Amino acid sequence: MTAVKAENLTIFYGEKPALEGLTFSIDGGETLLLLGPNGAGKTTLLRTIAALHGEYSGKLLVFGRSPYEARDVISYVPQSHSLNERVPLTATEVVAMGSIYKMGFLHFRIPPNVLEKAEKALGFVGLGHVKSRLFRELSGGQKQRVLLARALMSDPKLLLLDEPLSALDPSARAEVTAVLNKIKTERAITMVITTHDVNPLLGIGDRVMLINKRLIAFGKPDEVLRDDVIKSVYGPMARAVQVGNKLFCITGDTHIFHRGEGP
Ligand SMILES: Nc1ncnc2c1ncn2[C@@H]1O[C@H](COP(=O)(O)OP(=O)(O)OP(=O)(O)O)[C@@H](O)[C@H]1O
Ligand SMILES: [Mg+2]
Repeated sequence: MTAVKAENLTIFYGEKPALEGLTFSIDGGETLLLLGPNGAGKTTLLRTIAALHGEYSGKLLVFGRSPYEARDVISYVPQSHSLNERVPLTATEVVAMGSIYKMGFLHFRIPPNVLEKAEKALGFVGLGHVKSRLFRELSGGQKQRVLLARALMSDPKLLLLDEPLSALDPSARAEVTAVLNKIKTERAITMVITTHDVNPLLGIGDRVMLINKRLIAFGKPDEVLRDDVIKSVYGPMARAVQVGNKLFCITGDTHIFHRGEGP
């Protein structure tokens, strides 16, 4: 089944189009990596699919329905979480919020079945051992995994993740990537993941979409991550390099990191 279908989709802020004329489709169970430079429209596209932004023309369907009608099967993890870290919530409480946040903070009591589900979700992301620790005291990679566990609480069919690897060091990136891989293989949830550094995610991306205010390229990773395509968006310093059977994509954001690490 087609998970997301866009036909001539143009997304506006007021009169001004932020993204123009997108046509693409994502099959159920596929993982799409969404790439593009700052301001390309990645967050805008994710928020529109998540029914959080409604100013668009053209066609946009999520499992055959409008994003708003499909919102119950969509989970969205924003670029930066909006949790107030002064409120001392445990990891389990943050995950449970994925089910009960609609009840409001003043009534925040976790029903036993939700608690059990939240603990299971924490176990799934490999964090059963920190379930009683305060969220604010966790490492960046652990926090991101808690947020993924929270996003799984509503049993989504479509998971939209905005920059889940940003601001993480390489080992935390590997931890989060392993969880994303587990979600893909064990849950078969369709995912759209935006990223500045595509390299850690290349193993799990079935499709890559490159945007810059419009669709630049869409296809299998090796079809999109070609030197000429990358250069057309990120400039002449950008490169796609093949090392053995592995493809690396070097854009402005990853250049320094890879110079140090070596692909
Ligand atoms: N609420 C808003 N009102 C008006 N314009 C907006 C709004 N949010 C984003 N934009 C504009 O839409 C364009 C796309 O922004 P968006 O945040 O989607 O890009 P992005 O690819 O996610 O960038 P980044 O890599 O920095 O996260 C930008 O030109 C931005 O200024
Ligand atoms: Mg963004």
